[in-house]
Amino acid sequence: MKTKMTELFDIKYPIQCGGMLWIGKPELAAAISNAGAMGNLTSGNYNSPDEFRAAVDKTFELTDKPFIVNITTMPSIRLPIELLQDFFRISCEKKVKAIEIAGAPVDKFLGPEFIPMAKEAGVKVLHKVGTVKHAVHAQKVGYDAVTVAGFEEGGFPHKDNVSTMVLVPRVAEEVDIPVIAAGGMADGKSLASALCLGADGIMMATRFLATKESGVHENIYSVLVEKNENDTSLNLQSLLSGFGLQVRALKNSIMKQVEDVEKQGGDLTSLLPLISGERAKKVWKEGNADEAMLTIGQSVGRIKDIPSVDELISRIVKEAEESLKKAFEKIAG
Ligand SMILES: Cc1cc2nc3c(=O)[nH]c(=O)nc-3n(C[C@H](O)[C@H](O)[C@H](O)COP(=O)(O)O)c2cc1C
Repeated sequence: MKTKMTELFDIKYPIQCGGMLWIGKPELAAAISNAGAMGNLTSGNYNSPDEFRAAVDKTFELTDKPFIVNITTMPSIRLPIELLQDFFRISCEKKVKAIEIAGAPVDKFLGPEFIPMAKEAGVKVLHKVGTVKHAVHAQKVGYDAVTVAGFEEGGFPHKDNVSTMVLVPRVAEEVDIPVIAAGGMADGKSLASALCLGADGIMMATRFLATKESGVHENIYSVLVEKNENDTSLNLQSLLSGFGLQVRALKNSIMKQVEDVEKQGGDLTSLLPLISGERAKKVWKEGNADEAMLTIGQSVGRIKDIPSVDELISRIVKEAEESLKKAFEKIAG
């Protein structure tokens, strides 16, 4: 498979893993890259430049294939701007293949020198966007590609609630840089349809969470297989709409409490103990899915098994080709 995305990243298949806090570690990133797709090392897992540097080195030890580093550019007490700037600098020094920015644009949040720094190092920079306007800005300030995420996605979709089906072709019409479709992608049918919508490939996270190499607790795997497309909700608008965002997470007792606190006008102080990242870190390991905000997308409804990364990628590639062929056969009558 050859698209603008495989050429940009120098990978075999146009499939990328999205950033996943506590999950996107060297083992999963390398497994995905070794399978011919683009693994994601999520910098938010690390609390210092040294910890991050060691994770980058470990990923390079586990794979000689390209991988991407996610840097989430949102205000955070644990991850101050100076640390995010270090993550960016180290990624350039170590010459990872690409950096995926999610949140505020690099030029505004980290500084105008960062995109030129990446260009100098030969590192590609992508921005994950939820609006056409942000995609156009990314192209204008020199990003190499955009990941376009509809509001089906797990994590932090844009507050505008535009679906992947509409947002991807809209962005593809407006920019010339490669477009990667995200939000609701789960299989070969997703890849085939993304290509038809004008994208150059797909990015998925929830589907990669449901693979053997993600390393989550057995109970979480069962939840991922059992839950369906109605089992996530959009919350935290009271906290995040100022940043243009909201959260999509699994419906559970924590999110019910979040909803109640938001309805009663509760502020950050009352919400923080419920939504803290430390809770999620514990749940992925220990398996009580009711005890944290778990950022999972609607694509959970399309997950029926827990394959290895390698099985998943081969299946997606085969199914995408078959789906495109079937579509042709349909119209040929
Ligand atoms: C468990 C999990 C953790 C995530 N953590 C992050 C993160 O730290 N930074 C980020 O930019 N996006 C994060 N996301 C969002 C994904 O990178 C991606 O945008 C989204 O999940 C794609 O949609 P999908 O879930 O339908 O595949 C996370 C998603 C999941 C499922």
